Amino acid sequence: MKKFGKTGQKVLKAVHLLMAGLWIGGAVGLNLMIILLGPATSGEELFGYNMSVILVDDLVIIPGAMGCLVTGLLISGLTPWGFFKHRWVAIKWLLTVFCIIFGIVVLGPTVNDQPQYSQEYGLQALNNPEYMANYFYSILGGIFQMLALSFMVIISVFKPWRKSVPAA
Ligand code: HEM
Repeated sequence: MKKFGKTGQKVLKAVHLLMAGLWIGGAVGLNLMIILLGPATSGEELFGYNMSVILVDDLVIIPGAMGCLVTGLLISGLTPWGFFKHRWVAIKWLLTVFCIIFGIVVLGPTVNDQPQYSQEYGLQALNNPEYMANYFYSILGGIFQMLALSFMVIISVFKPWRKSVPAA
């Protein structure tokens, strides 16, 4: 397949970095919101907090994650970096796919289920074991996700275990 030229590669990398910034920025913002918003003084306020967390997830984190996946796919397929030529790129593939599946299966439900509880039970949701389990799992999972994303940024910059230097 025809590879991208130098300008194409730079444009692709710029979009990739914007998407990575979106994903990490969204993850940091979402975690801060979950931990620091509150204490809610009414059921409506709690419901509002829960809905704003979903907004950041749907409009910042998910587009950032999908953007990283698509630009990662284009960088691997259309530039000399390839898919599994370099161990650091292969690790990014594994971690990115893992983080996306983890986000869909584990993290998504922990934030998406919360408004149902706060709408139905109001402030009493804070005494509901399922609501609180979601709350703690979303914090634990969110911290894991931020560590994984930070690790990917670090290996992207240091590019360890590289076999050769492709024309960039
Ligand atoms: C499918 C997944 C991914 C693949 C295959 C991939 C691949 C690559 C490649 C090959 C580069 C070097 C591009 C160049 O210098 O021309 C790069 C750069 C970079 N990637 Fe990714 N990436 C992926 C996901 C991510 C994620 C999830 C993040 C962080 C959230 C990320 C952060 C970065 C950063 C910060 C750079 C710039 C490093 C530098 O050149 O100094 N990437 N990526």
